[in-house]
Amino acid sequence: MVNPIISPSMLSSNFADLANEAQRMIDSGADWLHMDVMDGHFVPNITIGAPVIKNLRASHPNYFLDCHIMASEPEKWVDDFAKAGANMFTFHIEAAIDRTAALIEKIKSTGMKVGIAIKPKTPIEWVIPYADKVDMVLVLTVEPGFGGQTLIENCLPKCRVLRDRFPNLNIEVDGGITVKNIDKLSEVGANVIVAGTGIFKHPNPSEAISTMKASVYK
Ligand code: DX5
Ligand code: ZN
Repeated sequence: MVNPIISPSMLSSNFADLANEAQRMIDSGADWLHMDVMDGHFVPNITIGAPVIKNLRASHPNYFLDCHIMASEPEKWVDDFAKAGANMFTFHIEAAIDRTAALIEKIKSTGMKVGIAIKPKTPIEWVIPYADKVDMVLVLTVEPGFGGQTLIENCLPKCRVLRDRFPNLNIEVDGGITVKNIDKLSEVGANVIVAGTGIFKHPNPSEAISTMKASVYK
């Protein structure tokens, strides 16, 4: 039994009005806020860093900030994100393959929850040895870097492999998810849904969130 969680990707928000955009998502029923951190090296785009998390934490003291760290040296940012008030620090295993266990311990020592993310072409076997040591596994369903892409369906069997082996694990999916394809994610056992375009560009974000929440795996 896992909790259904909808985590709108703030990458699709108006960053110039981030606090209000966050509030709009909270008022629309968001459980978490997904914050996409890109370093311009691990992925070909640059977004936000810990200073922005710190300001959002100040405007929203009690809200769960689900930070997806797309950075080549994730360990460099752990302390900054902890101090800024991040709740979850999800790093890419591709960026820490030789030091995954140490990084998990470092993140845990700060009190943040730990997630491991995998890109579409990364085999699920890479994360299986760590899945019972973390709070969440994030299965990317697009190549990370940009919002607004189309879901890559051949990523979905990875969620099924994880769900069959780890019934209580939080399995997050991210990229190209909308009310139209949410059932496919639910069928493979994903319970934490990230959606940027699928929520922000929906004519009624609150309806999009409630539809997703009703359909998602529980
Ligand atoms: C992609 C990011 C996603 C992205 C999802 O690198 O990790 O969180 O914002 O956006 P949509 O839902 O528009 O594909
Ligand atoms: Zn993301």
